[in-house]
Amino acid sequence: MRSIIKAAMLGVTLTLPAAVTQTASSDDRVDGQVRAWAASCAACHGTDGRAQKGMIALAGRDHEELYVALLEFKSGDRPATVMDQHAKGYTDDELAALAAWFAAQPKD
Ligand code: HEC
Repeated sequence: MRSIIKAAMLGVTLTLPAAVTQTASSDDRVDGQVRAWAASCAACHGTDGRAQKGMIALAGRDHEELYVALLEFKSGDRPATVMDQHAKGYTDDELAALAAWFAAQPKD
């Protein structure tokens, strides 16, 4: 029990500095938000979209191409196993921000 509380407190102290830096400017805040969304894509598409072999990479790809793919997953126009569910969780603007974020990441 004690160690759980300790771990929780440690988590708070470790995440605070990031939260503080995110308030530096509104641009930074937006970037921090998109980065947080993008982290949920890493399990399948790799860190910052740099995928392992056999997975679909997102980093450094064309912004428009990624955005259109996400919109089509959301509308159901593009066949998907999991991406339709992911895409439905975001507004079109949020998907555009995600596409732009991955497009801006270095490929390797
Ligand atoms: C559970 C694994 C998983 C997660 C998490 C995931 N994806 Fe995907 N992604 C896939 C799979 C699998 C495909 C292939 C289409 C399908 O079967 O759904 C795909 C395809 C894509 C494509 C199309 C790429 C292409 O070249 O066709 C884009 C863009 C994409 N994902 C973006 C994202 C974004 C952005 C996130 C986070 C919000 C994300 N994915 C989270 C598994 C995942």
